[in-house]
Amino acid sequence: MTRAEIVKKLVHIEERSIRPQGKAFAPANIALCKYWGKRDKELNLPITSSLSVSLGALGTETVLSLTEEQDIITLNGQRVDGAGSFARRLTEFLDLFRLPGRFFQVETINTIPTGAGLASSASGFAALVCALRELLQLNIDSKSLSILARLGSGSACRSLYNGFVEWRAGELTDGMDSYAEPLPDSWPEMRLGVVMLTEKEKPHSSRDAMNRTTETSLLYKQWPGKVEKDLLALKTAIREKDFALLGKTAESNALAMHATMLDAWPPVLYWLPETIAIFKHVWELREQNVEVYFTIDAGPNVKLLFLQSEIKRIEKVFKNVYIIAPFG
Ligand code: PMV
Repeated sequence: MTRAEIVKKLVHIEERSIRPQGKAFAPANIALCKYWGKRDKELNLPITSSLSVSLGALGTETVLSLTEEQDIITLNGQRVDGAGSFARRLTEFLDLFRLPGRFFQVETINTIPTGAGLASSASGFAALVCALRELLQLNIDSKSLSILARLGSGSACRSLYNGFVEWRAGELTDGMDSYAEPLPDSWPEMRLGVVMLTEKEKPHSSRDAMNRTTETSLLYKQWPGKVEKDLLALKTAIREKDFALLGKTAESNALAMHATMLDAWPPVLYWLPETIAIFKHVWELREQNVEVYFTIDAGPNVKLLFLQSEIKRIEKVFKNVYIIAPFG
């Protein structure tokens, strides 16, 4: 099935209901149990479920309107080159909602400080579908909105909500059962610390690395079983406020994801020597009874997980850590 067929199934666009503007904000998210591997590359259907925490006020704000002649895209006030990969990905997605002869003006503002090392494609596509809903007056529920965001970028389907969010993999070939839903629990003391090592563009996109891993890694066969176990543990940890269980499970899940990348051919390694040094600092801190864990996505920057009570000890060791309170 194609993305266009799914959009046609979910939305009905009528020229006469279009509003002058659509405006929306969506938070970024970090997975505690990762989405790694697709069962359908066109529709971004995952092999397994995943679970994330959203980053509150850190994310993307998008203002959308219609314009003549060509799509105009700005990012943080700067016009984006229409031929570049960022603009092409956006324009191709907007094609799914385009009325003949009409173009979009997309003004995107990232509230994630540039260089914080946090992916913005998830919040970007989530904000974009919410802005599209408002601009085109789409009559759809949040489940369908999550499905539309997934078509832009898999992890974007989780960025429609605050707090802990689960994306259920689903089984249907059209993906109508593959969308995200929020968990009812909150954890105000939870903190995330981003340790920024480099702002350089990564050598492999997560999309390519994910596909190469599922196609060539034998170790990947163990991944779905690991995810099943980790999801159960994370939900128990969240429900019972067991931070050690949450941290241990998230750290082990991230390391296992990277292990499958190392087992891919050609291998994928995102870590820098400094990445490994941070892992070791975290392990040393735990030896000293500091409850800190890490998670890491498809890149070299590390995200620390800890509780508010440990902030001082964390800041002492990680001088340039950027601390986020996901629950405000
Ligand atoms: O949604 P994508 O295609 O950017 O993939 C995200 C993959 C990871 O960030 C590594 C894991 C995740 O669940 O967010």
